[in-house]
Amino acid sequence: MRLLIDDADIGEIKRLYDLYPVDGVTTNPSILAKANRKPFDVLKEIREFIGREADLHVQAIAKDAEGMVRDAQAIVNAFGEATFVKVPCIPEGFKAMRLLKEKGIRTTGTAIYTPMQAYLAAKSGASYAAPYINRIDDMGYDGIHVTKEIQDIFEVNHFETMVLAASFKNSQQVLELCKYGVGGATVAPAVMDKFVNNVAITAAVDVFVKDFEHLAGEGVTMAELL
Ligand code: G3P
Repeated sequence: MRLLIDDADIGEIKRLYDLYPVDGVTTNPSILAKANRKPFDVLKEIREFIGREADLHVQAIAKDAEGMVRDAQAIVNAFGEATFVKVPCIPEGFKAMRLLKEKGIRTTGTAIYTPMQAYLAAKSGASYAAPYINRIDDMGYDGIHVTKEIQDIFEVNHFETMVLAASFKNSQQVLELCKYGVGGATVAPAVMDKFVNNVAITAAVDVFVKDFEHLAGEGVTMAELL
């Protein structure tokens, strides 16, 4: 399962890239608004940091297909071919996905709340389909269940489109989808910080260090000793 950061704060992206095996970054207009910088500047800085080959997802803003195609071309021109253009899964969006597929521009079907949207994104040639787990939960449905249904639809129909699950509220949801074999998860920094969040783990490591220091002296590690 690919693991991406769902954020546009370059400081957070650098911190998490340093710690975790991250495959790329996803953004959306709300995430860019939160960063409160010029979209081009922040996206360019992210692209420079993650490198030309890493996945970067940037959303088209226009609400009609032709406008989405223009947005997509501008996005790929600005941030490179490894950039996936996020296209909302609305009727005009499906049209845009087909047009962009013909142009060789890769898309991520986004704002997915239902399996039907994901099916149509796959049929329209999207590379990824992004169901919003937490937002589906907030509507009174089961976001994990919906995402598993989407994965089943893709497998049974032999679609190449992969699930890129988004909008997580906890690490257990990420793990649940990892077990199910979805293609990717994009996770906000606050949730990623809870991936390894257990006092028993910290305590176990502290005891190891303490025991070794008892043997070798305070602050001494293998590097000093061997
Ligand atoms: O990528 C979509 C995702 O950012 C939505 O997440 O937390 O705003 O529901 P959230």
